[in-house]
Amino acid sequence: MKITKCVFPVAGLGTRFLPVTKELAKEMLPLVNRPIISYGVEEAVASGCNEIIMITGRAKRSIEDYFDRSFELEEMLKSRGKVALYEKMLKIANMAEILFVRQRQPLGLGHAVLCAEPMCKNEFFAVALPDDVFINPEDPVIAQLIRVHEKMGGSVIALEEVEPQNVSRYGIVKSQFEVEPGIHKIVDMVEKPLLEEAPSNLAIMGRYVLSPKIFELLHNQQAGTGGEIQLTDSLKTLCSQEPVWGVVFKGRRFDCGTQKGWLSANVQLALEDPELRAVILDVVNKELNQ
Ligand code: G1P
Repeated sequence: MKITKCVFPVAGLGTRFLPVTKELAKEMLPLVNRPIISYGVEEAVASGCNEIIMITGRAKRSIEDYFDRSFELEEMLKSRGKVALYEKMLKIANMAEILFVRQRQPLGLGHAVLCAEPMCKNEFFAVALPDDVFINPEDPVIAQLIRVHEKMGGSVIALEEVEPQNVSRYGIVKSQFEVEPGIHKIVDMVEKPLLEEAPSNLAIMGRYVLSPKIFELLHNQQAGTGGEIQLTDSLKTLCSQEPVWGVVFKGRRFDCGTQKGWLSANVQLALEDPELRAVILDVVNKELNQ
């Protein structure tokens, strides 16, 4: 069965970005010219997922509004002859079928994924954490995971090798062997371990293809690291019952979950835009020549 659904947990409070996220969803912060969330949705759609399920919370209405039609704006743009902009607005609203489900309590990533059970209970589905922005227009990362699922069956997780000092920021996996270069059979994993306790330096990045079996495990999952219901803990159980593959993805990742990561992603991507590059270089040069 083809994977057509992608779940986006977007209920997080964005405390790392306060006060800007007091009223604004962190997923709506701009990454050059579009909100962060748009990059993930574009990646999912380019990977064949045309049903998007957003697990939202309070103060997240701006995400719903962004992907909705805006008749007043559309009429205004049309009446002023701004056809290209009008079409751009329509394209955003027609990007995908998007459902919104409320996560009523902030109980963790595992609990957020569990909120998608009514929509995904009998099929494999993708999960994308929008803080991790992946840039690979030729081969979107979710599509890379889906290909491994189609070839090998089972669940699939995106992996990246991280520096020792960053191990404790991620879920870390234990690989039994590599079936082919960059594709690991996962036999264990631990959420945000101390460096001494980490089974490797292969970190889980925010893209998954999950078996519907995960819901049964999440129902019974006790709170783990940070007192939250962790997806990693249920995946640890899943890999003892069903195949779970780890894929060292091809492409670039920007961590937009911290202010520093978000700012450097903006600068990096602006430097790659022919017009904005000149703006950044101009500011930096002036600063250096002062
Ligand atoms: C989540 C997951 C973690 C994963 C990380 C990737 O953590 O729990 O396993 O490595 O995303 O970004 P968070 O960053 O939401 O605390």
